[in-house]
Amino acid sequence: MNITVIGTGYVGLVTAAGLAELGHHVIGADIAAEKVATLNAGGMPLWEPGLQEILHRSRHNGLIRFSDDIPAAIRASQVYFIAVGTPEAADGSADLRQVERAIDDIGKHGRSDGVVVVKSTVPPGTGDALEKRLQQKWERSDLQVVSNPEFLRQGNAVADFFHPDRIVVGASSPAACEVMAQIYERLDAPLQTCDRRSAEMIKYASNAFLAMKISYINMVANLCDHLDADVDAVAQGMGSDPRIGSAFLRPGAGYGGSCFPKDTQAFITMGKQIQVPMPLVEAAVAINRNRPRDLLQRLVKEWGGLHRRKLGIWGLTFKPMSDDLREAPSIPFCRLALDAGATVAAYDPLIGRDYPVKDVHLYSDPYQVAALSDAVVLMTEWPEFRQLDWERVMKGRKSLLLLDGRNQFSLEEMKQVTHRWPLTYLSVGRPRLNPGKQPQSTIKH
Ligand code: UDX
Repeated sequence: MNITVIGTGYVGLVTAAGLAELGHHVIGADIAAEKVATLNAGGMPLWEPGLQEILHRSRHNGLIRFSDDIPAAIRASQVYFIAVGTPEAADGSADLRQVERAIDDIGKHGRSDGVVVVKSTVPPGTGDALEKRLQQKWERSDLQVVSNPEFLRQGNAVADFFHPDRIVVGASSPAACEVMAQIYERLDAPLQTCDRRSAEMIKYASNAFLAMKISYINMVANLCDHLDADVDAVAQGMGSDPRIGSAFLRPGAGYGGSCFPKDTQAFITMGKQIQVPMPLVEAAVAINRNRPRDLLQRLVKEWGGLHRRKLGIWGLTFKPMSDDLREAPSIPFCRLALDAGATVAAYDPLIGRDYPVKDVHLYSDPYQVAALSDAVVLMTEWPEFRQLDWERVMKGRKSLLLLDGRNQFSLEEMKQVTHRWPLTYLSVGRPRLNPGKQPQSTIKH
């Protein structure tokens, strides 16, 4: 099939590359001429494991190319994926202007047997409004609009594209559903067809539910901190119940990224506009907003204040295996720490410059950061932190405080470290480990 993907941001690029790998002829269309040139020259505008390899293969096989000539790119295909951004507007709702621009281009240049596939995250009812716009503004009642939400995780997006848990297709005609079934024919995944509004809702309801799960376990972790329980054991016990499930019960610095914060906000605003309160989602957002402060409070409690304290940060991005800093909890954390009078040094494997908080000093390895700090706070669980040489971290030190903001290390392994070195280990919702002899665990983990 000939497919044009409008928008070569994160979702658009992964989708375009994935569709080409499935054997379709794909054009990635974007108004950003520079980005298009980079992509056509074999470069990458973003970092995503495995993406460059599949793009390279499809380019080599002539299955994908990129163009900034949107009308020509639309005229060349029968299926038009819209994967442009829907950023947060000033009132918290989703700003749909880029989607509308794309639909107008399709209205002007689309083929009469064309199918429009909306990948961008849009509020329920948007597909209906877009179809109406095509009919009224462009007299195009021949074009079908389908909702096909994406569930790609950054850092795992290529695998998520080829092995989805489900493919959701919201369409009003069997013919459009048939086209979608053909597009994804080679993927071994259940395809759920439903009405368009429900498909649009699935995306928001899923993301808000996952955000609630994270905030819920973070709330429980706060309680565990005060009641000397171990949140990891609690999450394990809860997660063994299949009705709850163990995924997304990792407590920590809170969720960030380009999806959860924006989508939960849009979901709440959607409810407000039609007087349907969303208190569960509002609570999840409020709990998450407080996570950086909760973490900083742990240090304030330790020292009485942060004035002139030297803080080190390990990991700045919103999650490992991504260079994305959007809504990363490290940003408010660093701002709060600086406001409280601390100095901040930081290391992240993918962030060497251009961190949005300019008074944060960036270093190129975690040891340098530790050497400069009274306390180190682990904000992103990069796999390389598991290989740390503690002897090197602790070299020449009389003490160090480590606040593991992602519970990346197990208490058992940190018992060995704190037993050997003058390190105090704090984590989220778990007992504190002081330097020296640790009580033997009687429980087998
Ligand atoms: C998310 C959704 O998972 C995906 O389906 C959707 O399409 C886009 O948004 P992504 O933002 O890439 O994907 O990352 P994800 O792995 O879901 O993590 C989001 C945030 O939640 C990260 O900051 C992560 O650190 C945090 N998180 C996740 C937790 O704090 N605890 C958990 O248990 C899981």
